[in-house]
Amino acid sequence: MTNDQNASVTPPVALVTGAARGIGRAVTRRLLGDGYHVGALDHDASALADLQTGLAAGLRAHCQTLVADVADESAVQSAIEQLVSTHGQLDVLVNNAGIADPFNGPIESLSLADWNRVIGTNLTGYFLCTKHAAPLLRQRRGCIVNMASSRAYQSEAETEAYAASKGGIVALTHALSISLGPDVRVNAVAPGWIDVRDQQPGDDTPAPLRAVDHAQHPGGRVGRGDDIAGLVAFLCGPDAGFITGQTLVADGGMTRKMIYQH
Ligand code: NAI
Repeated sequence: MTNDQNASVTPPVALVTGAARGIGRAVTRRLLGDGYHVGALDHDASALADLQTGLAAGLRAHCQTLVADVADESAVQSAIEQLVSTHGQLDVLVNNAGIADPFNGPIESLSLADWNRVIGTNLTGYFLCTKHAAPLLRQRRGCIVNMASSRAYQSEAETEAYAASKGGIVALTHALSISLGPDVRVNAVAPGWIDVRDQQPGDDTPAPLRAVDHAQHPGGRVGRGDDIAGLVAFLCGPDAGFITGQTLVADGGMTRKMIYQH
């Protein structure tokens, strides 16, 4: 869980941002199941409450909800202080909170406010959480996992702000791995299409995806939250102790597929 397994006899502590829904919710559940104390940070208080209510009683006590906007430095700082005042340490940071809809409209009419909103959450939010977590992570020889996207490498039209934010995360990841090493390992995951409709508040069962949605993936299916949660858990664990500065793509092979029309 940390770079030095013998350094810790107490359960490791992780901070997961964007924990209330989607991939962050799956990561939170996975790390709780793996024995971490988790600070589940999100700006959606009611979705966070739903996450906690849905946890098994044995795990609920290990999940501390933290309401904060990752783009607000003082809110980030006080959330990290709250978590550390409870547990006294921080071993893992998972920067995941993001505005997930990549579409912003034509570049000619993209407002500066919309551009700044996407970059502010998706990129500046990762910077702020890392800035305030770094001294604590250094003490524990911990690690960071950043949620990038396959859209760091390929695009649909009218997704400039999102693509730029995700490309920025890939670069931020390798820069941080140099600055924070050898104390802290820093890696990123670049998911492709991950169906997170089952990782939302409420009991709604999502409608099945179409056969073509699955079949277009070389891996034969659309991704699930647990696919990404498993990869995050691996990157935080001792088997990943020699991996830093990397972005691992988890997309069912979509970025490896030629799409020329014949
Ligand atoms: P989601 O919309 O289901 O969940 C995002 C969570 O982040 C929500 O709980 C939301 O309240 C929270 N959040 C958003 N802005 C925030 C802020 N300023 N401060 C605090 N919390 C905030 O999204 P999803 O799909 O789970 O995405 C999570 C991450 O994974 C994002 O960074 C997204 O870009 C990335 N990703 C998702 C893919 C997918 O297909 N689902 C594919 C590639 C990357």
